[in-house]
Formats: sequence, structure tokens, C-alpha cells
Amino acid sequence: MRVAKINYWLNTCNFPAYQSPFYMANYLHGFIPEEQQRLIDQAGFLAPKIFKKIDFSGCEHLLEIGSGVGAQTQALLSLFPQLKITCVDYSDSQIEKAKENLKGFEDRVTFSVQDAMELNLDQTFDSAYICWVLEHIAEPRIVLEKVHRHLKPGAKVFLTEVFNSTHYTFPALPFAQKYYRAYNDFQTQIGGHPEIGASLGNLLQQSGFTQISHWLGGFHLDQTHPEELKAMISFWVKLMKSGAEHLIQAGLVTEEEVRKMEEEYHMLPENENAVFFIQFVQAFASV
Ligand SMILES: C[S@@+](CC[C@H](N)C(=O)[O-])C[C@H]1O[C@@H](n2cnc3c(N)ncnc32)[C@H](O)[C@@H]1O
Repeated sequence: MRVAKINYWLNTCNFPAYQSPFYMANYLHGFIPEEQQRLIDQAGFLAPKIFKKIDFSGCEHLLEIGSGVGAQTQALLSLFPQLKITCVDYSDSQIEKAKENLKGFEDRVTFSVQDAMELNLDQTFDSAYICWVLEHIAEPRIVLEKVHRHLKPGAKVFLTEVFNSTHYTFPALPFAQKYYRAYNDFQTQIGGHPEIGASLGNLLQQSGFTQISHWLGGFHLDQTHPEELKAMISFWVKLMKSGAEHLIQAGLVTEEEVRKMEEEYHMLPENENAVFFIQFVQAFASV
């Protein structure tokens, strides 16, 4: 409760979140072991969608920003066996978990605990990868500018980020909608960007990148694929609940409302006209 209040005060004072010693408490999902496991599960579940167009062939040294527990790193190492990856995350506990998860890849991975807003590495790279991170950062453009400075001419960067207002269900789920509004409002209040996917092209251009392209990925599920619909709901409820503790602490939802949100989503596949829709945005650019 106290941390939520301090963060609320810091944000209403317009202090950049990263100046605060509490800034990591501004991270919506938290760093508990269940959340660290959720990132691994998430990477596996979304990999077929995310890696469709991502291509780091011909690249040798990749900079991964916000690498978390190494879930994306593992996929990148397997898909592109020539890659050596430098993982940057501002959380000690995420990096410690990533070291555990990436055992066996020691010769191909190095780690650096630092805030991407202050990115400072004594190496330049021929590629960069950022996935589900910029939404959490107060000034994503600063991060992209810093990344740009760490890339060699001709280097490529792939981004994947949320575009949360694209979410739709049929039928409408009143508690789920209320919860989702609170989830997105809270992220905005703490300096995040739940719609950042829509702005990736502009941000890349403003940060000095060229040859920018972007495209949509995501899910449009209904009763034509009932098993996929159920799997998506299960994944989605876990994602939603990863923010529950913060939302309850901030007084935006009650425990009862979290329970009802969960119940509504789990009932959705029972409806013969059920639809679940969500899009994210991917972008490619070079230096
Ligand atoms: C949702 S997780 C995604 C992790 C990983 N990219 C994945 O897809 O599994 C976001 C990660 O970004 C990190 N992060 C957030 N803000 C950061 C910052 N300013 N500098 C470095 N890392 C940051 C968090 O610690 C967290 O590990």
C-alpha cells in the first residue's frame, strides 16, 4: 500500500519514474517466482506468432533490452544458432533467473543489470531485440535512441509491443471490461504505455532508425477453433492477474472483482457465439 502511495505521489509530481529509488515498483507485473514462470510460459505460447517474421540470420551480436528471465533469449538462441546475445534488464532477480534458465548457453550469452534509459555498454551490436518492454518505460524514445547509439551501421532491430485497446470479446464481459480499464489506466498512471504498439513507427523514426516497417500480430478466436480459444483464455487470465496485486493495492479493483473477471473469461468459451480478439504490433527497422 505504501509503495503504491509513494508511486502515486511521484507520478502526480511529474517526477520521471526512473529518478525514483522506487521506480522498479512501477513495473506492473512484479518479479515474484510465479510471474517469472509466467514469462517462460508466455514466450512458449506466443512464439509461433512472434517469430513468424523475425529474422536475425546474418547477425552475430544481438542486444536484447528487457530480457527478463531469458524466455525470449532462449527462443532466439535456438532459432539463430550463430547469435551471441547480451541481455540487459534492470532487475537483479530477473537476470539471476535468466542465468539459471540459460544454463548451457554460457558461451553465447552475457548479462548486464542496468536501466535501459541509461544504457551504457562498451560494445556495439549488429542487431537488437525488444519484446513486451517499451510499454513499461516512461520514455521509450530515450531507450531507442540509446539502443541506436549501440548499433553498427546497417544493424537491424525488431520490436514487439502491446496495443491494448484492440481487445474485444463477444459477448461483452462487464467485470472483465472494468478490470481491463483499471489495468490500462494503472499502467498509464505509473508511467507506462498500454497503446505503445501503435506508435512504434514514429518512435523508431524519431530515434534515428530507417527502413521502418510494422505489422499486426495477434488472435481472432471463436468457436471455429474452440481449443485455441480455451488456451488463449487461460493464457490471458494469467496475464490479467499478474497485475491484480498492484490494482488491488491502488484501490482500483477489489478481490471480488478480480474473481468475477476471471470467472467471466473462463465462461466465455461456453457461449456458442464467443469471440476473443487482441492485436499486438511488431516493427522492423535498421540503422
Ligand atoms: C514483460 S517483461 C518481458 C521480458 C522479456 N522481454 C520477455 O518477453 O519474456 C519486461 C521486462 O522489462 C524489464 N524492464 C522494464 N523496464 C526496464 C528498464 N527501464 N530497463 C531495463 N529493463 C526494464 C523488466 O524488469 C522485465 O524483466
